[in-house]
Amino acid sequence: MQRTRRLRRTPALRALAAETVIRKEGLVYPVFVRWGENVREEVPSMPGVYRYSVDRLAEVVDAVLAAGIGGVMLFGIPEHKDERGSGAYDENGIVPQAVRAIRAHCRARGREMVVIADICLCEYTSHGHCGVLEGGEVANDASLSLHAMSALAAVRAGADMVAPSSMMDGVVAAIRTALDDAGYPHVPIMAYSAKFASAFYGPFRDAADSAPQTGDRRGYQMDVRNGREALRELAIDEAEGADILMVKPALAYLDIVRAARERTLLPIAVYNVSGEYAMVKAAAAQGMIDERRIVEEILTAFFRAGADIVITYHALDWAKNGGNV
Ligand code: PBG
Repeated sequence: MQRTRRLRRTPALRALAAETVIRKEGLVYPVFVRWGENVREEVPSMPGVYRYSVDRLAEVVDAVLAAGIGGVMLFGIPEHKDERGSGAYDENGIVPQAVRAIRAHCRARGREMVVIADICLCEYTSHGHCGVLEGGEVANDASLSLHAMSALAAVRAGADMVAPSSMMDGVVAAIRTALDDAGYPHVPIMAYSAKFASAFYGPFRDAADSAPQTGDRRGYQMDVRNGREALRELAIDEAEGADILMVKPALAYLDIVRAARERTLLPIAVYNVSGEYAMVKAAAAQGMIDERRIVEEILTAFFRAGADIVITYHALDWAKNGGNV
């Protein structure tokens, strides 16, 4: 008889036959950096996640180094917003300042981590959209050079990688050209390629103060119903020169991750977004679930589906406690 239970009988046999590991070097912790001094404030809708001022970043950097996870992804919350999101491409803006501070701190510790800068305008525009507006619509091509300038500002400050998240058409090519022309041909781009217009981003928009003032993002982010179109997005970004392709959100989109894995040779990242995190935290706080086992199961599922890199607010907690299922 076929007996699949033979390899499940003891923990040692199960460990021997396990197909998937959570690679902690493949985990990325998102970090919110805000203006001001001596600030560390919890995001109300994301228990355990904080917004740090630049002078308090060392605390989270040390935690990331101690946990041994791959790196951080930075989101900036500027003091002032305007129509054109100028804080996003200010060479002395919040993200460039944060990158310099993290670099200096790592140098002082003699340690290294990957610093990724999220590139988008929505945290910096007064209207909260991911590009500039023309006639009430997000103008694609007019927004591209601003994204390229933003990427350059982050890279000049020392970012290892940039991750454009606005879903503007052509943004990967625009950033690639700008980086190459400025002498940064070696800096990789992680493209938010298949980013869906999702309700799972709700808590993030509280954290980053980036909710659109009017309308929504369905005119540029992907329609939740479209799987084939997601594969087109991934192929386009690959052709434009992306080095890593991302699928976002994660949990409800593992079909896309699997399909992507079967089509591309590039590394694939998934973004386990704020609403996914908030649901786990809320249920755990109510005593409804076992948080640690749930998080392990979720992270395992991402790697099993074919992700190489997982961006997750659970990264620190999980890696601190270490180990596998
Ligand atoms: C910025 C951006 C968003 C997220 C990452 N980059 C929000 C959005 O598109 O509204 C969401 C991350 C999360 O929910 O954790 N464009």
